[in-house]
Amino acid sequence: MREDVLNAKYAVLAKREHTPAQAIAWETVQRETARLFGYDVFVISTPMWNWGLPYRLKHYIDVITQPGLTFKWTPERGYEGLVLGRRAVVAYASSFDYGDGSPLARFDHQKGYLEDWLRMIGIDDIRTIAFGPTHPDAPAMPAARAQALKQAEALARTL
Ligand SMILES: Cc1cc2nc3c(=O)[nH]c(=O)nc-3n(C[C@H](O)[C@H](O)[C@H](O)COP(=O)(O)O)c2cc1C
Repeated sequence: MREDVLNAKYAVLAKREHTPAQAIAWETVQRETARLFGYDVFVISTPMWNWGLPYRLKHYIDVITQPGLTFKWTPERGYEGLVLGRRAVVAYASSFDYGDGSPLARFDHQKGYLEDWLRMIGIDDIRTIAFGPTHPDAPAMPAARAQALKQAEALARTL
């Protein structure tokens, strides 16, 4: 089944007809991506895992990032997103502070990736909330939490 899904994707990219098994596999992908189009705003709340995204979220991205469904690619125009007219709110949480000016900022491999991916599928309106440090022993935690809550409340009023 997994092989059929992958080959179904490559068939779309190569503009080949699906085999019957690939067509069945592709329907499962189509069902999943169709759910996306039912939403106006995507709210993604993610912890940082080893400087990146948790594997479940990455898996979801791999399932729904599909040619002809959420993006298209042409030699003339490159990648073009198909999930248009939607907005995204992303709330990040990490034990430490990876914000601009932090010595850890260069280890943050999640914000750039996630936001480039959202733009790649067509979502340009991206609002973010970053909560770090979340570690209860960190002296800066209460202020970071208060700041994140304030940002979330302000955002909720504008959506
Ligand atoms: C597998 C795993 C990897 C993690 N990697 C990082 C990391 O690279 N940097 C960091 O600051 N926090 C890391 N954390 C901590 C989470 O980001 C932290 O738990 C997050 O703020 C969510 O808070 P919560 O556990 O209270 O829900 C990791 C946690 C786990 C379980």
